[in-house]
Amino acid sequence: MPTPSALPPEHYSEALFAQQLDKVCHAIRKNISRIGDRNPKIGTEDYQWIYCGPSDWVSSFWTGQLWLAYKLTGESVFRNSARLRKPYFKELLALRDCHDHDLGFQYSLSCVADYKLNMDEESKKMALEAADSLLTRFRRVGKYFVAWNETHILGLEKTQGKSIIDSLENMALLFWATEVTNNPIYQEAAIAHADTLAKHIVRDDYSTFHTFDFDPLTQEPVCGRTFQGYADDSCWARGQSWAIHGYAQIFEYTGDRKYLELAKKLAVYAIEHLPENGVPIWDYLLPEHETQYLDSSAGAVTAAGMLMIADFCDDAEEKEYFRQWACHMLAGLMKHCDLTETPGALGLLSDGASFVHQGLCKNMLPYGDYYYMEALMRASGHTQFFW
Ligand code: GLY
Repeated sequence: MPTPSALPPEHYSEALFAQQLDKVCHAIRKNISRIGDRNPKIGTEDYQWIYCGPSDWVSSFWTGQLWLAYKLTGESVFRNSARLRKPYFKELLALRDCHDHDLGFQYSLSCVADYKLNMDEESKKMALEAADSLLTRFRRVGKYFVAWNETHILGLEKTQGKSIIDSLENMALLFWATEVTNNPIYQEAAIAHADTLAKHIVRDDYSTFHTFDFDPLTQEPVCGRTFQGYADDSCWARGQSWAIHGYAQIFEYTGDRKYLELAKKLAVYAIEHLPENGVPIWDYLLPEHETQYLDSSAGAVTAAGMLMIADFCDDAEEKEYFRQWACHMLAGLMKHCDLTETPGALGLLSDGASFVHQGLCKNMLPYGDYYYMEALMRASGHTQFFW
């Protein structure tokens, strides 16, 4: 696969992305007082937010943006607004019945961030409590994490043996917990889960299922399925992006090159299925007769993951290949979805597809916004994040 040709190389310069980051920080600063202490969940047609309830997998992504903005600028307004959310995450720790595999997203971008940036001991304790709760979801025989609790869509029968690709991102909390406690149990479970998903959720052509079912009693592998993608045998673009970013990150923690090689192959699959403008359609195998909704969030997560891969490549040509594709994707987001100069918009990116089967498409999504910012930072030379 050649490098992208839509833009000349000067359009991929660090300076261009750093300039865009300034706009992003400006937009976040401007929106702080309008968002208050609420946590954005999903955007409305007029670019306002619907907000999270007491437990939501997306509850930390605005907090994560605030911490990134604080890291970039050192302005206390960002730190204060991020800290305003601490009671939310404290209360969530007590809501044990609501805990699921997404504790990783929730606590990496809130409490781990506060600990990494400010050495805040209370945040460290909270994040470790979340890691302990996440660990209870590990199934020792099948070697996987159970993703969800009973939901209104899928009953307990269907969820108690289900693992999902998104959880690869949640493993970072466990690697971090091992780092700060020197207790290997967290990392051992994370590695076992990563290996199980590499075997079962990744297909031979490096496309992916969204979910993989295990028999809840014997914990034997049963079959791959797709919940949020188009069909069981299609390839949900955001699922693929979680795996690209997730395995790159697992390589960063473990130094085991097999995860990097896997992340590269998953990324090449995405590259080969990208439309010319670089913004993914929500499912890479969507039939042509279906409405071709974009998913800017899949684009942002993939771009951030590919920039991480580029950073880890030793071979100069390979490094350039992944960097250029990531920058092409970022340029696509900047051109087609960026809202930083749209008056009144409370988010950063339009055209996220949260759950197309439920009619949730063409939305702002806080996770798309968080990874857009992370990707812009990686493209302009930053390498330290909260994962
Ligand atoms: N983690 C759920 C999603 O990506 O929509």
